Amino acid sequence: MDLEDYVHSLPKAELHVHIEGTLEPEMMFALARRNAVALPWASVEATRAAYAFTDLQSFLDLYYAGAAALVTAQDFSDLALAYFTRAHADGVVHAELFFDPQTHTARGIPLATVLDGLEQGCEQARVRFGITSRLIMCFLRHLSEAEGFATLAEAMPALTRIHGVGLDSSERDQPPAKFARLFARCRELGLHVVAHAGEEGPPAYIIEALDVLRVERIDHGVRAADDPALLARLAREQTPLTVCPLSNIKLCVFRTLAEHNFKQLMDAGLKVTINSDDPAYFGGYIAANYVETARALNLTRVDLKRIARNSLEASFVDDEAREPWCFLTCLAAFFSLGVIAGCFFSSLLLCLTLPMILLLVNTRTCACAPSIGSRAQDSRDLAQVRAGTL
Ligand code: HPA
Ligand code: ZN
Repeated sequence: MDLEDYVHSLPKAELHVHIEGTLEPEMMFALARRNAVALPWASVEATRAAYAFTDLQSFLDLYYAGAAALVTAQDFSDLALAYFTRAHADGVVHAELFFDPQTHTARGIPLATVLDGLEQGCEQARVRFGITSRLIMCFLRHLSEAEGFATLAEAMPALTRIHGVGLDSSERDQPPAKFARLFARCRELGLHVVAHAGEEGPPAYIIEALDVLRVERIDHGVRAADDPALLARLAREQTPLTVCPLSNIKLCVFRTLAEHNFKQLMDAGLKVTINSDDPAYFGGYIAANYVETARALNLTRVDLKRIARNSLEASFVDDEAREPWCFLTCLAAFFSLGVIAGCFFSSLLLCLTLPMILLLVNTRTCACAPSIGSRAQDSRDLAQVRAGTL
């Protein structure tokens, strides 16, 4: 089995993807036409040509401009379904989607419209692909804490539809502690809490996110490597890091993937995961992130299995949904050994356990691994997504 097939076969969770960052230029132009919104670029090609970023802020300026094409609940639903179609093709069984309500409410789009659309897309993905999902509402850290509280107030009637909150946007000079009271309130409300920290910001921001915001996962976190004590703490406490290697290259956090510190973090014992961040802007969805990182850093298949398993363990699903996936991850790795003994024992194991797996997957959760029977439908879906017609 080649590396691409192996990566696709691993059941995995995507824990760091901004749904607005999955807006491909083709869909951006189709939606802009549908909604009579003017974009700052003349064509799809000119848009892609503009994706030459020098840092996080240079990306965010374009990303917020592109998000202007999203107006109706149908737009958000189409966007989510297009993402899930690609994610399913990459072996994603569960995704926790970030969304930026303030980017939309600032343009007069009610938060309920955004949520209605995203939920519709999530539900269609569950029915069509068996993918489960969670919605994580991010506060923009370049805005004030008071504006964050106003967004939380708008979200209150819809709180059961949101599973957690996050913190994103410009990191420089925007310390997590600025949002201490807001995150305390979100924790009181029973929401999961995560935050971007240590993407461009210093290790001190990761420490603040842990100690002040009391986050359960750190998004990015690669700059933890600059502080040996923090590295030891993250390893000891097994706080998951949602690393996004291709994003880090596009935003010049590292010069090349070969220079990325992902393997250093993994070898230090951290619970690292691989994610796509804003794949429409950074040149690759989750499987491309796994494959390209593996090639650049010589990650083994055992490493990749560990990373996929980390993603399932670090997700906000309950254990009942998680257990069958973890088992399937082990099976995928076992089969990929390709040695005679491995094949023999795998076959024996499969014969003994297949009825049990099927029973578990069918009765306890609908969140199963990609189904082989839907491959033809999958390629039709993907072709439509790539052509911008889905
Ligand atoms: N970092 C911070 N904010 C973001 C990002 C990111 O990579 N993507 C979208 N919003
Ligand atoms: Zn991000």
